[in-house]
Amino acid sequence: MAQTEYIIIRAQEDGVNVIGLTRGNDTKFHHTEKLDKGEVMIAQFTEHTSAMKIRGKAEVHSAYGIIESESKK
Ligand code: TRP
Repeated sequence: MAQTEYIIIRAQEDGVNVIGLTRGNDTKFHHTEKLDKGEVMIAQFTEHTSAMKIRGKAEVHSAYGIIESESKK
């Protein structure tokens, strides 16, 4: 079941990847979304998605506050 909370990812560079990882016994990538600078993705954790991996420089806004991911040097 989808939660009521959303997390918001704001890309701070081109080519940020938001990767959804499956819920259940195995943990696999099931979806990759590419964001360019300034683009925003609003997403929930669902019955299909238990984790997200953010690759690239972005701001992640959630109930836990704002976290910044960094780009690989
Ligand atoms: N169909 C996916 C799902 O319901 C969509 C999705 C929800 C998603 N949250 C996500 C994709 C986070 C990537 C990252 O699980």
